[in-house]
Amino acid sequence: MTAPTEHLVSVDGTGVRFACAEGDTLLRAALRAGVGLGYECNSGGCGSCRYDLLEGEVHDRRPDAPGLSARDRRRGRRLACQSEPLSDCTVRVGALTGPARHRPLRQTAVLRSVTPLTHDMREFAFVARTHAGFRPGQYAMVTLPGGQVERAYSMSNLGNCHGEWRFVVKRVPGGRSTSVLFDALAPGAEVVLDGPFGHAHLREEGARDIVCAAGGSGLGAMVSTVLGAAARPDAGEWTVHLFCGGRTGEDLHVPEQVVRAGRRLGALHVHTAVSDEDAAGGDALRAGHFRGFLHEAVLDRLAGRLTDFTYYAAGPPAMTDALARALVIGAGVDADRLHYDRFC
Ligand SMILES: Cc1cc2nc3c(=O)[nH]c(=O)nc-3n(C[C@H](O)[C@H](O)[C@H](O)COP(=O)(O)OP(=O)(O)OC[C@H]3O[C@@H](n4cnc5c(N)ncnc54)[C@H](O)[C@@H]3O)c2cc1C
Ligand code: FES
Repeated sequence: MTAPTEHLVSVDGTGVRFACAEGDTLLRAALRAGVGLGYECNSGGCGSCRYDLLEGEVHDRRPDAPGLSARDRRRGRRLACQSEPLSDCTVRVGALTGPARHRPLRQTAVLRSVTPLTHDMREFAFVARTHAGFRPGQYAMVTLPGGQVERAYSMSNLGNCHGEWRFVVKRVPGGRSTSVLFDALAPGAEVVLDGPFGHAHLREEGARDIVCAAGGSGLGAMVSTVLGAAARPDAGEWTVHLFCGGRTGEDLHVPEQVVRAGRRLGALHVHTAVSDEDAAGGDALRAGHFRGFLHEAVLDRLAGRLTDFTYYAAGPPAMTDALARALVIGAGVDADRLHYDRFC
């Protein structure tokens, strides 16, 4: 058997070098080697993994990735999450960050069950051979059968030694990945999981009063974060505010395990918000939903004490951006106390 081809990547001016297996991306190879390159979405959307290629050749997985502006392209900048080295390379990056605590591992996993949660959200449970090592709030890259589509999904459970990875997925009409997940994948199907990734995981140090803000597709990450707080030995000292947002009441789902986890926490407050003007009306008020966007619900329900909390958020970029603006610019919350990875 021949060994897989590897290319050596050198980070200019740092003395750092790591091997990248053929077909792997520069970003993932760095993280697998414990080298902390900056990144967020791992999908080509956010631009936080931009770098300069000084020597060598790379294949660009997604040449039209929105994470690069026209100016970036004119200057020859590239995305580490989309670059597959084809030769030894020398790259220039911004500052290296600390090493990943769990290095990402690529492995096959089998779909074990699918549970409907709402009209357009389901929880998919996969089982892999090795333990599932990740922190609450992190995500994995899921490659569907055939290898054509790979997307990021946040784990909705906790790291475990049974190899179980759960994801809450919201259907995107006509979406390439969600169409396969919802319409074609049956228990027994094999996918490839690569992970964990992401920085928006539950912090073990610091404030025990936390806010978890979940907009639509962000529910899984926030469920995992609440479960993570409740699993801590000092859970009784934690206060958690969980905000769930959707367009109408039909989009909302608060999982039973979150309610159970609340019994182990000092306090769990669940707030719901619906934004759709037409549907919100009297029904929303009767159901106790806040009427408006998720960030407006956070501002309203926590008025006067917004700087007391550490915030975790997941969901569409418009929602996390609005929350970040409202908290950091509007309310003076320290940016270091707001954690989210852009879903772009
Ligand atoms: C960090 C992160 C965590 C996420 N967690 C969740 C989650 O827990 N639950 C959930 O429902 N969704 C989550 N998403 C969104 C998810 O990854 C998909 O974007 C979503 O399911 C729609 O995928 P689709 O293929 O069905 O839709 P499509 O509309 O076909 O594609 C959706 C997105 O994929 C991007 N895309 C297009 N081509 C590529 C490519 N070659 N490589 C990578 N991306 C490409 C596009 O920018 C587009 O916005 C997350 C996204 C990120 C970045
Ligand atoms: S564009 Fe590479 S991490 Fe977001």
